[in-house]
This record gives sequence, structure tokens and C-alpha cells, in this order.
Amino acid sequence: MDRRTFLNGSLTGATAAMLPRFSLAATADGYFELTAAKGSRRLFGDDDELSELWLYNDRLPGPEIRVKRGERVKVRFVNTLDTPTSVHWHGIRIDNAMDGVAGLTQDAVAPGESFDYDFVAPDSGTYWYHAHNMSWNQVPRGLAGPLIVADETPAFDPDCDITMMLSDWRLDEDGRLDTNSFGARHDFSHAGRLGNWLTVNGNSLPDIRLKKGHWHRLRLINSSASRILDLAPARFGARLIGLDGQLFDAPREIDDLVQLSPAQRMDLILKPETSETLPFELMTGQAFTFANFVVEDANPGSANLKLPPKNTLPEPDLENALKLPLDMAGGAMGGMRALMRTRSEDDLRQMMSEGQFWTLNDTAGMSEQPMVTVKRGQTVVLDSLNETSFPHAMHIHGHHFRVLERNGRELVHQDWRDTFTSEPNEQVKIAFVADNPGKWLIHCHMLGHAASGMMTWFEVT
Ligand code: C2O
Ligand code: CU
Repeated sequence: MDRRTFLNGSLTGATAAMLPRFSLAATADGYFELTAAKGSRRLFGDDDELSELWLYNDRLPGPEIRVKRGERVKVRFVNTLDTPTSVHWHGIRIDNAMDGVAGLTQDAVAPGESFDYDFVAPDSGTYWYHAHNMSWNQVPRGLAGPLIVADETPAFDPDCDITMMLSDWRLDEDGRLDTNSFGARHDFSHAGRLGNWLTVNGNSLPDIRLKKGHWHRLRLINSSASRILDLAPARFGARLIGLDGQLFDAPREIDDLVQLSPAQRMDLILKPETSETLPFELMTGQAFTFANFVVEDANPGSANLKLPPKNTLPEPDLENALKLPLDMAGGAMGGMRALMRTRSEDDLRQMMSEGQFWTLNDTAGMSEQPMVTVKRGQTVVLDSLNETSFPHAMHIHGHHFRVLERNGRELVHQDWRDTFTSEPNEQVKIAFVADNPGKWLIHCHMLGHAASGMMTWFEVT
């Protein structure tokens, strides 16, 4: 098999896919220890070379941290890598000082040092954590894990509440993580670092056991550096109940593909009625099987579907909103054209020689001053326009927003999200209440794009 073109889980890895869970409580002072260290794994086949990865607690993915809504999360992060790093709690409406953004909310944790994260998880749902210092280099080496905030009364059996962290790896010809191409200019200026090997919870094509006649909740997390996953939930009988940690009023039947962009989450429910194997597929031009759901006979489960309550998020006040543009420009394949409106050729060349290919509101990368300062409680409407030739997955820290419109059309479902996808030439309007004081990033979660210009910040005072 040509390993450069595989993008397929064609090996049979009959590994159990349930992740072990860790609830908090560990050290005498009540901290859960999370240690970043080098580790190794065989990502491809049993005869292949070991990849050197960077892992949390020597696990791939990092340990599933499970807390209850409103619970205090105390994590003592220890860095034993030989490079500085930090931990970001993605999608959590967190205390700014705990947001984990190296260079903005804290200094990166130096090798041998530690940092205590201590915050309250205000909303239940499916979240994750990942490195936030040179993320483009650190996340695709393995520094990511699920963070599940459970409801007071769980609506699903623990066995039927299944986390699936979906990851895209770039392997070399020996089946080893390709570390030579980290930071490649071509990746940064095009679609980002795309891999050629997919895993679910670190395993290729795992069997995921389901119980016949029981309601299951699947929590999908896309931890890929750049790959947008197109999934077809209806093909295995699943319905969508929420996105990016936030539940809908009612389950949604979706016949089409659902996009899961880098950093996004999708919660699904399904109740398989026959013992069979259901392929969990992914579409990237063609269908690939990503995992197998193996439905096993079980004692009868409860027939009724009980969904947990939704979180209460602050509702945007659109009448009195502060309206701001968010223009995405730059990148290869013609995207530089928009930049020429305001830049000379010399300017552009200078920018590219510094490894910057993209701009947000005509600025490449972080500046000293925030893009905007808003008063706490102010509703912000961001009217974004993607003038590049690539899709982007825009993430806002510390807040959830409603997606109001796409290309001027009001959406039927104005879902809450923390990351939205924007296609080339697409206009997307979102709104949120800036109610969380501090310094917050807005960036593309295609991590190479963020590193090469698509990253800015705003301040709430
Ligand atoms: Cu999930 Cu700024 O990141
Ligand atoms: Cu991007």
C-alpha cells in the first residue's frame, strides 16, 4: 500500500475504544495532575516504526477529564517536555487568567515548571483541552484530550456515553509521525497541515461497542490540526442533539453531511435496534470507514429518551449591538489579491518573508492593541467575510455565540457555537454578549493559519 495516499483506516484494529475516565481528586491539595511528556506509539501498523509523540499523562488522547457542571476544576499542569507549553480549555466560559493562552493570559510553562489551573466549569457539555503555545506544532503531536462536563443527573448510562476524539495524522513512509514538515510554508499558506491517517481515540478503525436497544450519546471532538471532517450521522441511524457543547431544544434528523471543522464538537444520539456492525463513516470525496459500531445484545434499556437540560447562555441584544467586521484575507490561490488593496508589493513580500500569509481585518497576527475593547455586557455582532480561497474554522475564546446569518440569509437554527466554519466568499454573521472580562483570542483553528496571521484578540473591560 502506498502510505502517502492511504487516508483510510483499512487495518483491523479491534481495540476497545472506551476511554478510561478520570474524575478530579488526586494530590493532597485536590489537584489532578496533568503532565506533558514525550511518549511513543505505533500509529500505523504493528510492524511499523514508533512515533515520538508529546502526550498528556502518557495517554493518547490525553486523559478524559470529567467533572460536573458547576464543579471546580483544579489541574496541576507539569511540563516535562523540553519546550514551553500551556493548556487551553476549549469552549469553556472560563476565568480569563485560566484560559491558557501563552503570551496573552499567561507565560508559557517552561520545561520543568508547572502551572495550577483552577476554574469552575459553568456549562455542561462536550469540550476539550489542548496545548496553546505553538499549537500548530504541539497539538498534532498529541497534546489534546477531552474535557467532559457532565450534568447533575446523567441522562445516559455511563457505558452509553461515549467520547470519540477524531484526529488526523501526517505519517511518513515508515508509518511514523512526520515531524520534518511541521511549519511548512505550503501548509500554512494553503489548507493547513492535512494528514493521511485517521484515528478515533488514538486507534485506527476501532470497534466501538454499543448496546442493542439502549440510547447512546456520542460525543465527537475534531482535534485535527486542519482537516474538516464530513460526517453522515443518518447513515448509522444517529440524530444530532448539540454542537460545540450546547444542546438543541430537540434532536435533529440530518440526512446530509454534517461538517465537523477543527475544534468543533458534535453530540449525537442513537439507539441501535439490531445486533450488527454499523460503519462510522467519513467523507473526504469518498466514504471511508472511520470506526465500527458493534451492536451487542443487552438487557432491555429504557425506551424513553431523556435529554439533559440545556445551558443558559446570555442572549444577544441585537438592537443595541456593536457591529464589527471580520475580514479574512490572504493565503495562496488568489487570496493575496484582497491584500493588494492596502499593501504594496514590497509590503506583501515582507509579510510573507516573516511567515505571515493571512490577515484578519487587514492585520497579520497579534498586535499590541486589541482589535476592539468592549464594555462588559455589550452585545457584539461580527459580520465576517472570507475573501480567501480556503475554508476557515474561526474560534472565539471565552464566549459562545449564535450564528445568525450566512450570505445574508437568516438561519433557521441559530445555533450556539464556539467555532464556526466559513467557506471561501462566504459571509457569516454571528452575535454574542461580551460578558467575560479579560483578553480573548479570535483565531482560525486551522492551527497553521493561526500561526501565519489569522489570529487577533479583543478585550472586555
Ligand atoms: Cu482551541 Cu485558541 O483554541
Ligand atoms: Cu484558517
